[in-house]
Amino acid sequence: MTDRPIALDLQDIHKNYGSLEVLKGVSLTAYDGDVISILGSSGSGKSTLLRCINLLEKPSAGKIFVGNEELQLTPKKGELTAKNPKQLEKLRSEIGFVFQSFNLWPHKTILENITEAPIHVLGVSKADAIAEGERLLAKVGLLDKKDAYPDNLSGGQRQRVAIARSLAMKPKVLLFDEPTSALDPELVNEVLAVMRELASEGRTMLIVTHEMRFAKEVSTKVVFLHQGRIEEMGTPTEVFENPKSERVKEFMASHR
Ligand SMILES: Nc1ncnc2c1ncn2[C@@H]1O[C@H](COP(=O)(O)OP(=O)(O)OP(=O)(O)O)[C@@H](O)[C@H]1O
Ligand SMILES: [Mg+2]
Repeated sequence: MTDRPIALDLQDIHKNYGSLEVLKGVSLTAYDGDVISILGSSGSGKSTLLRCINLLEKPSAGKIFVGNEELQLTPKKGELTAKNPKQLEKLRSEIGFVFQSFNLWPHKTILENITEAPIHVLGVSKADAIAEGERLLAKVGLLDKKDAYPDNLSGGQRQRVAIARSLAMKPKVLLFDEPTSALDPELVNEVLAVMRELASEGRTMLIVTHEMRFAKEVSTKVVFLHQGRIEEMGTPTEVFENPKSERVKEFMASHR
């Protein structure tokens, strides 16, 4: 157990697409500084779970807390929607989301991609946003690219920009959905290195990944999803080296 405060709490999250139930009651708590890897085979519901956290997908049932603030939800045609759009906007700004595809604005420079949301969503002054943007670009090793455009960067560089862009919002929690799976193999490590550094700084992160060695090294907790349920959850040593479930054993054997 821990006396760290709760950063994110998901309680009994369900998600149906019509008659297909893809999340069947998932509960997961991230304490401040937790790095939680979410593993599972294709279709097990990993992306859906992450997307339900900030209502990119509307859950069918369940509760979501960011810090100790509960996202106010109201049922509508079998889905939960935000009661208060302002609260949703605020909680979304506290949750960084890094996708497989980077979604940078092609007509803005790298630095503009990073300063846009702090200026327009958080109301940070342009000068402060630029100073912080440059600091973050230096952190991910890309300060020299600040005036370049996304098209002129490699995939690994673009993903590091996307991470810097998330950090610029000073999120309480960072969510990563397979951040390296669209990259050429030789570019994977530069992105994992940035994520490792974030983990060592004590950032709270939920990471869907197929990078098993990375997950084993950086995680405080590992969750294995199977058909929309948590099949197994534990420390990296427990889940990677002594899995209890046959399904996790098989998965680990085929991902060495
Ligand atoms: N918009 C949608 N409409 C209907 N079904 C969907 C939709 N999005 C996802 N699903 C289904 O929900 C299930 C879970 O999908 P999800 O994308 O969460 O899996 P995943 O674990 O992220 O898989 P992968 O490893 O392939 O990314 C799958 O059966 C998928 O087909
Ligand atoms: Mg997915």
